[in-house]
Amino acid sequence: MAQLLITGGAGFIGSHTCLILLEAGYDLVVLDNFSNSSSESLRRVAELSKIGHEDRLKVFEGDIRSREDLDRVFFSARDGIHAVVHFAGLKAVGESLLFPLAYWDVNVGGSRTLLAAMRRHGCRTIVFSSSATLYGDPREVPITEKSKVQPINPYGRTKAAIEKMLSGYAKAEAGWRIAFLRYFNPVGAHQSGQIGESPSGIPNNLFPFVSQVAIGLRDHLQVFGGDWPTKDGTAIRDYIHVMDLAEGHRAALELLQHEEPQVLTFNLGSGQGYSVIEVIKAFEQESGRSVPYVIGARRKGDVACSVADPSYAAKCLGWRTKRSLNEMCRDSWLWQQSSPQGYLE
Ligand code: NAD
Ligand code: WQD
Repeated sequence: MAQLLITGGAGFIGSHTCLILLEAGYDLVVLDNFSNSSSESLRRVAELSKIGHEDRLKVFEGDIRSREDLDRVFFSARDGIHAVVHFAGLKAVGESLLFPLAYWDVNVGGSRTLLAAMRRHGCRTIVFSSSATLYGDPREVPITEKSKVQPINPYGRTKAAIEKMLSGYAKAEAGWRIAFLRYFNPVGAHQSGQIGESPSGIPNNLFPFVSQVAIGLRDHLQVFGGDWPTKDGTAIRDYIHVMDLAEGHRAALELLQHEEPQVLTFNLGSGQGYSVIEVIKAFEQESGRSVPYVIGARRKGDVACSVADPSYAAKCLGWRTKRSLNEMCRDSWLWQQSSPQGYLE
């Protein structure tokens, strides 16, 4: 079976995608520097997937900015690497405003070094983790792949730059198969509760924060703004269950491998928006716990509403989300209860 390189495979989305790809029969090599993850996630992935032997999931500690680390990984694959799924990178909007050069270095510099390694080793298929963040404050909702790319923070600008770099490469040299997957708001966890999102420090994102309030690690949630032009005044997002997202990667890989070389862009979201208050209510229902909150000021850089038009992905990939907001809350809660400190325990 084809062997894939998964950069950042120990992280939140990477670990869930590794599980889906192992179940689909792929052999995997993960390269991760564990700057925002733990090898424990992959140990659990191996356990959940019941892979018989270590050869199906090899793990290398290393950096995508290192030519030597990448060569080591490519040379390790006996029959070559057939495709790369590229998750590795920095992803916090607020941090990118404080340390923009780190974001250009890791995200853009790392992707450039990875691309050069792919060329050296004759691999021309890549699925890249892009983000809805590159639409900035969207002019129209739902957002299609043709909506204007206008990022409003350094993180989003690095994602837009990587897309440009990769699609430029594909024009310069024939044979590239590239998919940009623009994720909306990935949340939830595997239904076993064994793998999930393990943020370090105070979570930036809504779901991990709500989970920590529900379990009593924090006493309340601050809702960022109650005066947005939405149905209840709180901001609307398109939350996508991480397992649905993982299945989107499998579909994209299958399409790339079976069609002519091309560059494709897909919005991966559910097409359904929920307000912060609706998320809190659903989480309370699923956890049976109360989630106290106070409505505070808007967070700088937030937008009122971000919802995907997922119809292009449905048409080309035959993929659409299957899991509801309540399932996202249920699985996040299961994960929170089984591993209250993430992988740290
Ligand atoms: P994550 O931080 O959990 O995973 C990223 C992984 O990359 C981590 O395991 C980290 O240790 C690794 N990594 C970071 N820098 C590296 C480097 N220089 N070399 C090797 N490994 C490195 O993040 P995630 O939520 O799983 O996100 C995965 C990808 O999806 C990222 O590219 C992110 O920008 C993108 N994305 C995430 C979201 C989200 O809300 N989680 C939304 C849209 C896009
Ligand atoms: C969701 C909603 C907040 C925390 C981010 C990145 C984006 C992408 C996905 C990587 C918003 C509100 C949150 C809290 C709150 N990541 N909120 N109190 O900002 O939509 O998207 O993750 O590509 O680039 O920006 O997600 O989970 O932070 O917020 O009221 O303590 O919850 O204002 O409306 P966001 P989020």
